[in-house]
Amino acid sequence: MLSGMKFLITAGPTREPLDPVRYLSNRSSGRMGYALAGAARHEGHEVVLISGPTALDVPPGVDFIHVETAQQMYDAVHDMVGGVDVAILCAAVADYRPVAVAEQKMKKHAERLVLELERTPDILGSMRSVFGFAGVLVGFAAETQEIEHYARGKLERKGCDMVVANDVSRADIGFDSRENEVLLVFPDRTEALPRDTKEHIALHIVEHAALLHS
Ligand code: CTP
Repeated sequence: MLSGMKFLITAGPTREPLDPVRYLSNRSSGRMGYALAGAARHEGHEVVLISGPTALDVPPGVDFIHVETAQQMYDAVHDMVGGVDVAILCAAVADYRPVAVAEQKMKKHAERLVLELERTPDILGSMRSVFGFAGVLVGFAAETQEIEHYARGKLERKGCDMVVANDVSRADIGFDSRENEVLLVFPDRTEALPRDTKEHIALHIVEHAALLHS
């Protein structure tokens, strides 16, 4: 049966606060993740979308959880992962966050300021080992070189069934763009999807993921 599965999708950037008015983040628009949520719903699946801040409308019929930080996204995924058949982790999670968050707005003093950062929890890397997730696991890889090689390494290290890899060195696709061109990396093969809208690419990814489950 290729419809009626439960999908969990992460999307968008995270924001890692420095003080009450500043944060570290990235250029992710969330479009790929929201397109995935819309496509999965369109295919008749139940969808929970866990997203950092974006300017996008939540696709109709999708359950939505808003988060800001990597830690909040980690906690939300942990809470929601029970009973999920397919997890697609598309969010551009910040890899590092400030060690200390100032309680008051930081004032400027010296000419230079060094920020100390620490790693955020790895949500994709926790799915199998910490959360015990046994469903279909799809990760994303944003690379600037040796795309397939790095994506395959990620697939193996994090126990994914598929990694969607794209070349973020290109300005015309991927980050903050309406189109994408990706490689689907599986344990036994790689498939290239030609440049297309994120909505069409999303549909292919959802169909592939559903097939992996059946
Ligand atoms: N991811 C995650 N939790 C994090 C960081 C990333 O779940 N704290 C997920 C992303 O949603 C994406 C994948 O992991 O599915 C990206 O993997 P990552 O190793 O962070 O990718 P890059 O940033 O491309 O890797 P690197 O920094 O090693 O180049």
